[in-house]
Amino acid sequence: MTAPRHFLTLMDLSPDEVRGLIDRAIELKSQHRAGAATPTLDGKVLAMIFTKASTRTRVSFEAGMAQLGGSALFLSGQDTQLGRGEPIHDSARVISSMVDMVMIRTFAHADVEQFAAHSSVPVINGLTDDYHPCQILADLQTYFEVRGDISGRKVCWLGDGNNVCHSWMNAARLLDFELVIACPEGYDPDETLLEACRRHAHIERDPLVAALDADLLLTDVWASMGQEQEQEERAASLQPYQLNQALLKRAAPDALYMHCLPAHRGEEISAELMDAPDTVIWQEAENRLHAQKALMELLLKT
Ligand code: CP
Ligand code: NVA
Repeated sequence: MTAPRHFLTLMDLSPDEVRGLIDRAIELKSQHRAGAATPTLDGKVLAMIFTKASTRTRVSFEAGMAQLGGSALFLSGQDTQLGRGEPIHDSARVISSMVDMVMIRTFAHADVEQFAAHSSVPVINGLTDDYHPCQILADLQTYFEVRGDISGRKVCWLGDGNNVCHSWMNAARLLDFELVIACPEGYDPDETLLEACRRHAHIERDPLVAALDADLLLTDVWASMGQEQEQEERAASLQPYQLNQALLKRAAPDALYMHCLPAHRGEEISAELMDAPDTVIWQEAENRLHAQKALMELLLKT
């Protein structure tokens, strides 16, 4: 039996595979809209393990499997024996013996790595404290659809150096663009990852400098899942990094801006930008569906 192909971070794909996946996602999107999808995942079953909340990730994986002829199981942390302390490696062995693929959203990235190491089928990271690679596939698809290839562009991250930021750092080195990370001291992304990405990503404390001539501005909540009790202190430190019209004016004239959602209007992003008629944020959210269908096809080589 060949070893399963996992997707735990973007670095599990080559640059050519990322570009091929985006092309396929765009094709799947137009087929879906035309009512002409082919059931490439006919009879396949995806188990989805969630120990954190979700709207987009759950709906997109579940709908995506159904649309491609397969099905998805929702397993909440509390309701399975995992929640009662059954070891991850035992759970991985059992669950993967019954399904074709597993998606996990949880806290520790090491838990997803451990599950993958003991799984006989592909494992997809649906968000950990450290990475959110599925989100960036959808974000990249959106950029490619609207502006073309992102290689050589300037991208600016605003706010907390969190899991979504880490996945954008990986994207920068895979697809060869510049990522300027605007965050205050104490909110830096992981130091080891920053060192690994140093040719493509760097920190700039001044958001007005960071946003200058950027082709794409990005942000995310200031307190991620699991950090809710730090909300007030984080909001006080991160306030100058709000994505708003003033910062957008500093960027390139045709700059796009994105947010993975859910958003807090008036905190990390202004209500005005969230509600702008020409924002690509809703397209970005929808693309989770299409990008992940292409990902599942790739992992199962259908
Ligand atoms: N962006 C994202 O992953 O959304 P959910 O938390 O709703 O899945
Ligand atoms: N950084 C956020 C992303 C939510 C999709 C979190 O981890 O809660």
